[in-house]
Amino acid sequence: MSELKRNMIIDCDTGTDDAVAVLGLLLADNIDVIGITSVHGNLSVEEAVQNNLSLVNLVGMDVPVYAGCPNSLTSGLFPGRLQNTLCQTIRKEYNGEPVRIHEPSLGLPTGGRTVEKEHAVSYLVRTLREAEEPIDVCAVGPLTNIACALTMAPDIAGKIGTLYIMGGGIYIGNRTPVGEANFVDDAEAAAKVLLSGANLLIGPIEGNEAGSTYTLQDVEEIEAIGTETAKFVGALIRRFMWRCDYLWKPGFDLPPYTVDPGTSCCIHDWAAVAPAIDPLTATDIRKEVCRVDCSGGMADGQMVIDRRGYYLEPNASIVYDMDEKRCKNLLKSLLAKK
Ligand code: RIB
Ligand code: CA
Repeated sequence: MSELKRNMIIDCDTGTDDAVAVLGLLLADNIDVIGITSVHGNLSVEEAVQNNLSLVNLVGMDVPVYAGCPNSLTSGLFPGRLQNTLCQTIRKEYNGEPVRIHEPSLGLPTGGRTVEKEHAVSYLVRTLREAEEPIDVCAVGPLTNIACALTMAPDIAGKIGTLYIMGGGIYIGNRTPVGEANFVDDAEAAAKVLLSGANLLIGPIEGNEAGSTYTLQDVEEIEAIGTETAKFVGALIRRFMWRCDYLWKPGFDLPPYTVDPGTSCCIHDWAAVAPAIDPLTATDIRKEVCRVDCSGGMADGQMVIDRRGYYLEPNASIVYDMDEKRCKNLLKSLLAKK
């Protein structure tokens, strides 16, 4: 690890916003990404692996990519619970094909790179136990890999410098009215990680929206940078904008990838990891008592913040607000490098 760089492991379910976060961290001068662990979530873990391999290929770096858990800790055990979440999740088709918020493939070549043989969870335990200095971790998918690692080896909580998490909503959800996708996709994993004793900085829906809600003008500014990564990210966000509008904007009916000029979309994972590169991107951070509902009802996976001020010790720092200009300029400066 160079004297100015901090070692970082990224755990992600690489879909669209994960890709932006991964590229930002790979390109940051003060971060040394030593491994990328893939997890189920937006896509299958196999799809996430291929997308992660293609991202390290895009920037020409030899960062090892690992395959992790293909489903959640309780997957398949409670059909009614899954049904409860699905009935609250918005699903639409276009020309008879389901529209998924994340594309199965980023459409980039992997350059012959292949996934490591070691399982992601084993890699996390081994690497954190062997580390002489704390390693930071950015977790921007369901927390299944992280929870499994912390269950296998609770001692690694103290070997993580900061665990940056994209997850939860302070007042709102996205996958369900109160549940955010990463926490809903594995509520038990999120609950375990929040109680692990690791040093947590959580980027919830609202904090991310403050720092990383992108408009068409933002996309055009990124594309104007002209580098390979900037052109890729610009096109990626454009396609994401169409899918978000098609799935979530009542009455939206523009044909695929025709973007409504007035649209906007949040690149959640980028916002959640930006403070790992530049802490000043987060402007309002509060230490709170934070839990996750695992009861399997309508609020399954909801992040529950206890503000009653009773005996419970705060267990997480939550980002309530971000410096939008700083957050967006940081991404542009990184994409300008390659
Ligand atoms: O709720 C947003 C989160 O769910 C992001 O991490 C996105 O990539 C999806 O995993
Ligand atoms: Ca993600």
